[in-house]
Amino acid sequence: MKQQAIETAAHTDNDWWKTGIIYQIYPRSFQDHDGDGIGDLRGIESRLDYLVDLGIDAIWISPIFTSPMADFGYDVSDYRDIDPMFGTLADFDSLVAATHSRGLKLILDFVPSHTSHEHPWFIEARASRQSPKRDWYIWRDAKPDGSPPTNWISEFGRSAWTWDAGSGQYYLNIFLSEQPALNWRNPEVQAEMLDTLRFWYERGVDGFRVDAITHIAPDVDKGDHPPDPQWREHMNPSYRFLKVHSKHQPEGHQFVRMMRRVTDAFPGRVLIGETDGDLPAVMAYYGKDFDAFQLPFNFSLLDIPWSMAEIVDRVEAYEAALPEGAWGNWVLGNHDCARIASRAGPAQAAVATTLLLTLRGTPTLYQGDELGMESASIPPEAVQDPWEKQVPGLGLGRDPARTPMPWTQGPNRGFSSGDPWLPVFVPSDGDVENQSADPASFLSFVRSLIALRRETPALTLGSYQTVLAEDGVYVFARTLGGTRYHVCLNFTADPKACPVAGRIVLAAGQSTMDDAGQSLALAANDAVIVQAV
Ligand code: GLC
Ligand code: MG
Repeated sequence: MKQQAIETAAHTDNDWWKTGIIYQIYPRSFQDHDGDGIGDLRGIESRLDYLVDLGIDAIWISPIFTSPMADFGYDVSDYRDIDPMFGTLADFDSLVAATHSRGLKLILDFVPSHTSHEHPWFIEARASRQSPKRDWYIWRDAKPDGSPPTNWISEFGRSAWTWDAGSGQYYLNIFLSEQPALNWRNPEVQAEMLDTLRFWYERGVDGFRVDAITHIAPDVDKGDHPPDPQWREHMNPSYRFLKVHSKHQPEGHQFVRMMRRVTDAFPGRVLIGETDGDLPAVMAYYGKDFDAFQLPFNFSLLDIPWSMAEIVDRVEAYEAALPEGAWGNWVLGNHDCARIASRAGPAQAAVATTLLLTLRGTPTLYQGDELGMESASIPPEAVQDPWEKQVPGLGLGRDPARTPMPWTQGPNRGFSSGDPWLPVFVPSDGDVENQSADPASFLSFVRSLIALRRETPALTLGSYQTVLAEDGVYVFARTLGGTRYHVCLNFTADPKACPVAGRIVLAAGQSTMDDAGQSLALAANDAVIVQAV
């Protein structure tokens, strides 16, 4: 019953995001056009044909709005303009047109939970306690001894409260001090921010990935956070206390529903949430009547060791938890965490990418992962990430996953004619140009995999079933009507006999089917898709 609903639910054109692949662009590092060493909108436009060839359906671009760049654009000082570093509104309009003319969709990043401290609203808010904008942010008095109102620790490791000497109060910041938290309980904030969504939808944007949504409704008056008994001195300082009053607050769900109502007024648009949390918390972001996010990000494969048993458990738990009628999604990498080719190990990159692109649900592919890029090792003097600078040496820095795309053999590998903001690293199979010319490259495999996915409805719309998970071999089936495909993944460095029958339609490595089509000899670390005949 559940299965049928899924098979028939998809497919008006407005549901493109169910079968499509979303490709995340980190704009600072995609392609520089003006030679300042930082990627920009005209750079992205110049590389759209690469993305068409790759076969993805939509690009999500991390923030490109006016920003002092304390957190590289996740600190917005004008929600309705483009930062000059990235270009102009005219460049943006041109990018929208160029994207759409190629049949691609464009998704922007909405950062509703906090602004930049340089946003005119915050400047006005901090000017005096009587300012009409004061209540747009979250202010509280110091405790009698001068200390912050609560023990909350920011995501980036310091107190979540910053003292504002001028007005004699603390303001809340869930991330950097330069990112004061907006007070969404204020109806003026809601109205202004929702209008921002309309502004971009009217400009042709196909959806939003909504940043830090789990932090949108912190309830500071609930007081201190309890200590996390699992926390130890060397760990991420942000995890010292359980964020029971700051994350996943009930009002946050109301605010998401408001965003969704605005979105629904524009047909064919999609709202994706940065919903980190346990499974019940993530599922709650679909909304009781599916009136919240169409795609609450599923990060359940993001923070685990690359162990087959763990992965199978997570996949099955997610499949079981998805409410009937909900559309799932998978993420293996983004601009905030280690590259998948490093996390899984380079030998397992094809297994990981096949998993991402064949599990049931919309995949988000992070730029460069299609090249097998690894996390770069950044020398201390080259560190850019404010998190690493604030709490150095704990391995929390995000620069390793943010290095520029290597395109060609030219200067700075074709990324920029100027000095790149982070060093350019080339993956073992080479840059885009090398890999495109080599049918055995990782990029060529990913292109074939995406092409197969595009022409095989069972791989997007089909049901999911675990077939085998033992001895380092994971096989699952995707079935639609009478067609059935087996995805066979070897998590080990040894060849394995795999009891799967049919015809190999794609293999990353040298696996073979016996002559009778009854048994697969799965090569070490291989990822193979077999069509049942
Ligand atoms: C999200 C972004 C991250 C940013 C943070 C604050 O987690 O993905 O890059 O630093 O929000 O906006
Ligand atoms: Mg530039």
